[in-house]
Amino acid sequence: MKRLSVASAPAKVILFGEHFVVYNKPAIVMAINMRAYAKSKPEESQKIIIESKSMNISGAFTISGDYQPIIGGFEGKEKLLPIYVAIKSILERAGEERGVRVEIDSTIPVAAGLGSSAAVSVASAAAVSSLLELNISREDIFMAALEAERIVHENPSGVDPAISTYGGLIVYRKGDGIRRLSVDARLPLVVGDTGIKRVTGEMVLLVGEMRRRYPLVVDRIMDSGEAIVDVGVEALRRGDLKTIGDLMNINHALLCALGLSNETIERLIHAARRAGAFGAKLTGAGGGGCMIALSPPDRINYVVRAIENAGGRAFITDISLEGVRVEVQQPNSA
Ligand code: MEV
Repeated sequence: MKRLSVASAPAKVILFGEHFVVYNKPAIVMAINMRAYAKSKPEESQKIIIESKSMNISGAFTISGDYQPIIGGFEGKEKLLPIYVAIKSILERAGEERGVRVEIDSTIPVAAGLGSSAAVSVASAAAVSSLLELNISREDIFMAALEAERIVHENPSGVDPAISTYGGLIVYRKGDGIRRLSVDARLPLVVGDTGIKRVTGEMVLLVGEMRRRYPLVVDRIMDSGEAIVDVGVEALRRGDLKTIGDLMNINHALLCALGLSNETIERLIHAARRAGAFGAKLTGAGGGGCMIALSPPDRINYVVRAIENAGGRAFITDISLEGVRVEVQQPNSA
């Protein structure tokens, strides 16, 4: 066993197909250059101790899952539980019952649609498997993080842990694994955060309820989502930003039809379009969280400013080709 191991995993934006991907439709998703870090060390007490700097919570889990808070009281358990599940899944796969200590450091906004929880689970699973020098594949890391996602919401498609594990730009369909896409252009994306936190599981349930009430209508909306992905794959391959932007606008309208947008998201989206974006849409679960805008390179700063003037926090993002990675440690670092 090593004395220390650090791993990191990227956040993501969904370009096309969120929610529909829960119902076996494809989605196109891109890893972005914002990462969650997990530092792991051996722990003599045989417990799994997890400390999240960004959430200011820490606590100890026994192997059987009992929780003892260290910082943040018993409320902290719910937030740390997915990380514990990811770590435990790795230990079980390897037939290990050792204690580990994991420190999380992430700048990815939480509950904002950027895949923060999956990135943290993926990074933690990788840090622990590297610490214990286990022969664990990326698929195992993905599966461990998918188990963790089931704690976050009941019926995850797996798109978030997949992109965080594999990185780049992928087409994802539940059960089919990933298909990598190469793009013949840069994708100058602006992310606008509404600052409104939302619960993914509640938004997924909302779509489920709409589908239950209006199956004929919602199934057609989801078929349109699939067609957007098909046309989007070709547009991305050609680097046709205008078409990609149009498809983002259509995809957003479909999500809107299901009740996933709100006034604040709409304000940021319309501000981005008015400032010259090719297209803009909500990204992730909706109901708050983030929107994305695809901008001509020479308009990108206008788009950022327009989103900020409309009350959002905006930043420019780029693709992260790398998914999960074990960080190289300096010989004396701890
Ligand atoms: C959340 O990033 C994406 C959703 O489609 C949920 C999921 O795929 O599990 C809303």
